Amino acid sequence: MNVLDTDFAKQFVRAAAEGWRQGWHECNGGNLSYRLRPDEAAQVAACLDPGEWRPLAEGVQAPGVAGEHFLVTAAGSFFSNVEREPQACAGIIEVDRHGTAFRPCWGFAGEGRPTSELPSHLLNHEAKKAATEGACRVVYHAHPANLVALTFVLPLEGKAFTRELWKAISECALVFPAGVGVLEWMNPGSVELGRASAELMRDHDAVVWAHHGIICAGSTFDQAFGLLHTVEKASEILVKVRAMQPEPRSFITDENIRTMSDAYGLGIDVA
Ligand code: 13P
Ligand code: ZN
Repeated sequence: MNVLDTDFAKQFVRAAAEGWRQGWHECNGGNLSYRLRPDEAAQVAACLDPGEWRPLAEGVQAPGVAGEHFLVTAAGSFFSNVEREPQACAGIIEVDRHGTAFRPCWGFAGEGRPTSELPSHLLNHEAKKAATEGACRVVYHAHPANLVALTFVLPLEGKAFTRELWKAISECALVFPAGVGVLEWMNPGSVELGRASAELMRDHDAVVWAHHGIICAGSTFDQAFGLLHTVEKASEILVKVRAMQPEPRSFITDENIRTMSDAYGLGIDVA
């Protein structure tokens, strides 16, 4: 079956196009990856044309995703073009059996290569696959403006940052009861950024990259996209409220969050 006719490729393209429409992907900002199920890899096997093996990145090992296939955006590609030129803006890679090398198998037309954030994507996939018994398949990185703005004024610490988001809109506690992880500024595309994100991804589905963006994980495109959307919407509300009134007259209290946690079995500890 042609890669672009598969359900996973259609959903990949749709998520990228929708992210562009949300304004989260200036220039080549952001990247997206999907870990294929074995039946999906088999479905497109006839279209794959494996190239040379290349090391993942300096010292990177991801044995937890050895042998897996990923559909991933290309380095330098614009999300605005994914819908029009999916074969140039994305491609399929296979990770070798040791989890230390990859080879391109489809796409990346015109000398393209996987996103510069490949270490983050593969290490996050590895962490989430282990933490979810294989359920997590999507990793999505974007540059939403309101969230990035908040990283200049909120403490760069997961618990405090999460609390602010939870208190901005009721939906947040329901969508991400495990909260978000937060990292101080780190070099984009670096192995260190990938490792630090993967560490936080064990306990969260979203990690904020200060002054840069966010990386989210989910078992479906809708889940990863919806999580990012919710975080960014809460951020927009916080930015607006803080701009209008530094001392809000009312807000969601710890008691309110406890009430939601009890009502919906969220297991949130608001200590
Ligand atoms: P890529 O174009 O290599 O995917 O990089 C974009 C980006 O957002 C880096 O953090
Ligand atoms: Zn980025």
